[in-house]
Amino acid sequence: MSRLILEGFMGSGKSTYGRVLSKEFLLPFLDTDKEIERKEGLSISGIFEKKGEEYFRDLETDYLRELSTSDICKDGVISLGGGMPVREENRVLMKKSGIVVYIRGSRELLKERLRGRSERRPLLKGEDIDEKVDSLMEKREKLYLQAADTIVDIDGKEIYEVVNELKKIYNKGRKGL
Ligand code: S3P
Repeated sequence: MSRLILEGFMGSGKSTYGRVLSKEFLLPFLDTDKEIERKEGLSISGIFEKKGEEYFRDLETDYLRELSTSDICKDGVISLGGGMPVREENRVLMKKSGIVVYIRGSRELLKERLRGRSERRPLLKGEDIDEKVDSLMEKREKLYLQAADTIVDIDGKEIYEVVNELKKIYNKGRKGL
């Protein structure tokens, strides 16, 4: 089985790349945020507001545990919420679930993409984007690297270039398994 697990910071385009890859090559696709929203019947912002961040983090771990022991999205592509690798347990579960690809953008690119697009993202709401991206990346960068089997850099690349790199990783994974 080959299953690509896309991790990376908010705004790195995990869902966009994952969706395009899946459409182009007819692979199953799943976005953990969307699955959690569907299961809870609430948006991510709604979950943060009504039940708090820890509750959301527990939902993420539960869902990842389910993925790691099931055929959900078998031979497909899974896009993770940006905070997924923060818990050590999650990093272990991610590795068990498939080939983990760090979709890596520079802080400058991420800030540019996230400016003015924070209303759907509870961690950025009302925050200074530059400061928030810096402080979160300070903590998370090493964790993304720890969790990753491989890295795809996105700065200066068109969507199709990133998607082609992902497809190569996917194909290599298939052959190895
Ligand atoms: C989060 C990223 C979001 C979402 C939630 C928390 C994070 O997903 O899971 O708002 O902690 O970085 P995206 O990376 O898809 O925006």
